[in-house]
Amino acid sequence: MASKLMVGNWKMHGSLAANASLLSEILSGMGGVNCRAALCVPSPYLTQAQSLLAGSALALGAQDVSDHESGAYTGEVSAAMLRDFAVRYCLVGHSERRQYHGETDAVVAIKAQRALSVGITPIVCVGERLAEREAGLTEAVVKRQLAAVIHANGHCISEIVVAYEPVWAIGTGLTATPEQAQGVHAVLRTQLQAATAQAERVSILYGGSMNAANASSLLAQPDVDGGLIGGASLKATDFLSMLKAASR
Ligand code: PGA
Repeated sequence: MASKLMVGNWKMHGSLAANASLLSEILSGMGGVNCRAALCVPSPYLTQAQSLLAGSALALGAQDVSDHESGAYTGEVSAAMLRDFAVRYCLVGHSERRQYHGETDAVVAIKAQRALSVGITPIVCVGERLAEREAGLTEAVVKRQLAAVIHANGHCISEIVVAYEPVWAIGTGLTATPEQAQGVHAVLRTQLQAATAQAERVSILYGGSMNAANASSLLAQPDVDGGLIGGASLKATDFLSMLKAASR
C-alpha cells in the first residue's frame, strides 16, 4: 500500500487573504511530512491555490464536478475546466451534495467517470446517516453507494479513492471509533476486491470529525489509508499535526 493520503476539505470557507495566510503557514510547516496530501478548495480559489501550491508536496483538489461534459448548465464546473488548473483530486458524492443538492448514486457515479476521463482522481464519498446506522443498515448503504460507482466505472475502479464519512460524524464532533471505521473500511475493501484485482491500490479514507487528537488511532487501523478532514483542515497547526500523524 502507498503512503497515507490526507485530504483537507475547506467546504465553503476562505477568502483570498485567509487562504494566503493558511497556505503559507501550512507550507512552511511541511518538513517531516512524507504522506500524500491534498486540499480541496472552493472553485473560485483554484487559480490562487494552484499558484501557491505549485512545486509543493500539497496537491490541489476540487470539491465537486459537473456530471455533464460541457454545455448549457449554468453554474456548473466541468472536469476539463478543473484539469486546466492542474486539479489532481475531486470529491464526488460528498454527503452535503447528496443531502442539499439531491445527488443520487447514479449522478455520483457519472461524476466519478467525468473526473477519471480527464485524469483527475475522484474521491468517492460514502456514508450512512444516523437513522440508517441505528437501523443496522450501514453496510447496505455504503455498499449500494459504492456499487453504483463500480458499475459505471468498470476497469478504471482501481484509480479511484474512497472516503467513508458517516454522516452523523461530519462536523458534529462525534467521530466513529477506530473499530467502527475499520469495520466499514473492511467491508468496502472486500467489495473492491470483488471488482478488481488491484483493490489494494485504492486508498480508503476516513472522514467525520477527524482531528489532531483522534487521527493517530484512526490511521492505525489496517484498512484506514488516510483521512478526509473538514473543520480541522482550516487550522494550520491541526492540519500539520494530522499530516505528521499520517507520516509515521
Ligand atoms: P469534518 O468534515 O472533518 O468537519 O467533520 C469532514 C468532511 O465533511 O469532509
